[in-house]
Amino acid sequence: MRILITAGPTREPIDPVRYLSNRSSGKMGYALATVARERGHDVILISGPVSLHPPDRVEVVNVETAQEMYDAVGEAIGACEAAIFCAAVADYRVVDTAISKIKKSSGELTLTLTANPDILGSCREKFGFAGVLVGFAAETEELLAHARAKLERKGCDLLVANDVGRKDIGFDQSHNEVTLLFRSGESRWIPLESKEKIAGEILAEVERLQAPGERG
Ligand code: CTP
Repeated sequence: MRILITAGPTREPIDPVRYLSNRSSGKMGYALATVARERGHDVILISGPVSLHPPDRVEVVNVETAQEMYDAVGEAIGACEAAIFCAAVADYRVVDTAISKIKKSSGELTLTLTANPDILGSCREKFGFAGVLVGFAAETEELLAHARAKLERKGCDLLVANDVGRKDIGFDQSHNEVTLLFRSGESRWIPLESKEKIAGEILAEVERLQAPGERG
C-alpha cells in the first residue's frame, strides 16, 4: 500500500528570524514512517522541521509552514491508499509577516493571526480522498469526548487520542500511551509503549481497515 504520513511541527514566520511553532519532535510520525516501510509499504513522509534522520527508503518532502504542508499533501494524496496525519500543525499564522527583523520598542507588541487550513479536515471533500484516513488528537482535557468529535468532524476511519497534558508521555518522549477510536464506535487503549510499538499497532489497524468491507 502507498501511505502518506505527516510529521513534526509547522513553523509560521513572524519576521526573518522568528516564528510561531509548538513542542512536536516528529518522533511519532518518523516511527510510523520507519515501521510502515519495514512492513513493506511505500511511504511518502511530509515533514515539518525536526532534528531526526530521515528514515531509509522513504520519500521525504520537507516543508516549513502549514500552507506548504497543505500544498504538499494535496499534491501527493491522490496516489495513496492510506494517510496518517501525525503532524502538529499550527492552527494560526501571522497575517503580515515582517520582511525585516522587528526592532524592539518599549511597551507591547501585537501580532494579528489568521487561521491556517485544516489539512486533515480537507482530505475528504477538498482532496476527494477515499482511502483509509487516520488522525491524531492532542488534548489536555476531556480526551475521549474531544477525540470522538474530531474523528466525526474530519471524516477519519481511525483517530489516535493522545493526552498531551501528561509530562511522562507524548511530546518529545520516546514512549506514549494512546487510545485508538474507530468510526464504528469501538475503541482500544494501548498502555505505555515505545512509539515504534505504537506505530506497529496503528499500521496493523490501517492494514485491516484497507480490506474490502472493513470500513462500513
Ligand atoms: N491537523 C491538520 N491541519 C491543521 C490542524 C490539525 O491536518 N491545520 C490534523 C493533525 O495532524 C491531527 C488532527 O488534525 O491529525 C487533530 O489535530 P489537533 O491539533 O488535535 O486538532 P485541531 O483540529 O487543531 O483542533 P483543536 O486545536 O481545537 O484541538
